[in-house]
Amino acid sequence: MGKIFVSDHPVVKSMITVLRSETTSVGEFRRAISDISMLLCYEAFRNAGLDTFEVKTPMGMAEGVALSDKMAVTVPILRAGLGMTEGILRLLPDCGVGLVGMYRNEETLIPVEYYCKLPSYTGQSLVIVTDPMLATGGSASDAVDLVKKKGGKRIILLCVIAAPEGIEKFSSRHPDVDIYCACLDGGLNDRGYIVPGLGDAGDRIFGTV
Ligand code: PRP
Ligand code: URA
Repeated sequence: MGKIFVSDHPVVKSMITVLRSETTSVGEFRRAISDISMLLCYEAFRNAGLDTFEVKTPMGMAEGVALSDKMAVTVPILRAGLGMTEGILRLLPDCGVGLVGMYRNEETLIPVEYYCKLPSYTGQSLVIVTDPMLATGGSASDAVDLVKKKGGKRIILLCVIAAPEGIEKFSSRHPDVDIYCACLDGGLNDRGYIVPGLGDAGDRIFGTV
């Protein structure tokens, strides 16, 4: 079973509250999703490999380091995962971006794939799959299937709010993939929405109702 990281950071907790509130504007919502994504990515790279090299400062030589993962790829699950991309690129500006489009059938809750475009070097990269909501876990599990089909081997999942049902399904289908989430909620309602959650993440990021 992969590692499951749940943030306990006060800054992240306060941002989750912004996301939950139904009075939060679209702009504030996007900002909080983006900032949380950057902070989750920061946590995910805590034990990242480093290359060392000499750097010349105006005062002399110093030992410098750079992340070994030069060719990371982030894969947002459309639509809502797209809201997480800017925050990740703030931390990893050279990161590639692959796109997977999925929506849940509202009755069956089964994800329907409608788009997939992944960089050719996905198999050589650390792949960061993103979606704000891990509800039943079906969308994230299917997205990781697509990444693996493209050759992806080192994969992590970043989500903002996870439900226990989603963690359970995802971990059993992909025990080799670590999950980083900002918050673990109580469960799902009878329409497959996370409670208390934040509502429909895609609608709130894109201003559709
Ligand atoms: C939402 C969310 C996830 C999925 C999570 O997308 O962004 O992709 O549901 O649910 P699951 O864990 O039960 O699969 P949605 O289907 O609403 O599509 P959208 O992002 O285009 O609005
Ligand atoms: N998708 C969402 O956008 N929100 C949920 O609570 C569950 C799935």
